[in-house]
Amino acid sequence: MSSLKGSRRLLILGISGFIGSHLLDRLVADGRTEIVGWDLNRDKIASHVDQGKLVFRQHSVADPAFRNQLQEDVAWADWIINLSAVCNPSQYNTEPLLTIYTNFIDGYHIVEMAADAGKPLVHFSTSEVYGRTIASYLPGNQYDVPALYELDAERTPLLMGPTQNQRWSYATAKQLMERLIYAYHKERNLPFVIIRPFNFFGPRMDYIRGLEGEGKPRVLACFLGALLLGEPLEIVDGGHARRTITSIHDAIDATLAVLDRPEHALNTILNIGNPANELSMIELAHMMRDIMAEVSGDAGYRHHPLLQVTSAQFYGPGYEDCDRRMLDISREQALLDWTPKIPVREVLRETIAYYYGLYGKTAHRTAAAGAAE
Ligand code: UGA
Repeated sequence: MSSLKGSRRLLILGISGFIGSHLLDRLVADGRTEIVGWDLNRDKIASHVDQGKLVFRQHSVADPAFRNQLQEDVAWADWIINLSAVCNPSQYNTEPLLTIYTNFIDGYHIVEMAADAGKPLVHFSTSEVYGRTIASYLPGNQYDVPALYELDAERTPLLMGPTQNQRWSYATAKQLMERLIYAYHKERNLPFVIIRPFNFFGPRMDYIRGLEGEGKPRVLACFLGALLLGEPLEIVDGGHARRTITSIHDAIDATLAVLDRPEHALNTILNIGNPANELSMIELAHMMRDIMAEVSGDAGYRHHPLLQVTSAQFYGPGYEDCDRRMLDISREQALLDWTPKIPVREVLRETIAYYYGLYGKTAHRTAAAGAAE
């Protein structure tokens, strides 16, 4: 392995997603990393392709026709970073096979290859492996005892609902992948880091429906799309679910700290998130309306319509929600010498300003139409 604090070679799988594209921006700016990236599309990294800093392979990591190439890239790399995943809840119960294949079956050979080559694997898992909190199963939802809701990577049990609730197809596939990595570590000395992201938010997350793609993205892109297109923000099951919102920039700082501090980070499972940024989804909707009003200068956004929907209406049958994702990061802060810094208002302001800059004209026209309904 070359000196990880000097130059280094990274193989990044799923490089054109939200996290991969931000990681790439930072690595290119830093200038001391050689990068090979794989993805099925190049949309979010187009400005870096063919610029000499990145060798880009537009293939699926699951395609057996490119298995030898993948093996060569693993042999070349100092680190393998696996970001390839389907991570959109609207697909977990409508496309459970795709969800399970992408998040486990298509990826297990990456773990085998890393283990065979003895190369450290940074695998992006999910905060969703925790499932629901213990508190949510107790009468009266007992959130007054931190041990019943606070999520700690070393002690918290992983609680999923019944098999028929296919929402958990994703979390269980991700959990089995974590267990496979851990087994390879124990039996075959695979060096690894498992990162559990807690709702990373920022520009380029998912896609804006109707403007950049079709279907149902995650909540940030759903609310943004609704604001930009003059449609009501759909609030699922009263908007009581709570999430801790993490700036993508704080998340990338943590990822780079993993690479810079292998002596502390290797062979650990890390919660990466910002416990200071907890919101319910109804609070998120109100905050996004207010910030859209500030960014656009159009006070009408403060009263942008909300529409209450049930999860069965929004996601179809088989959806079950994670009630709360409050995390403990004390171990992660010490290991990585890292602390998330960006408050949720600032995260939302940056993201809303980015999309308003891209689609503002459309937004003005359609918001007026929406307000008139
Ligand atoms: C998703 C993934 O499943 C996780 O693996 C991932 O870690 C996480 O995103 C993430 O971004 O880090 P989740 O937070 O449940 O998990 O996904 P969202 O679609 O962003 O939903 C968050 C909450 O907003 C849920 O309660 C959902 O019902 C609600 N929601 C979503 C709405 O109220 N309205 C919408 O238009 C969309």
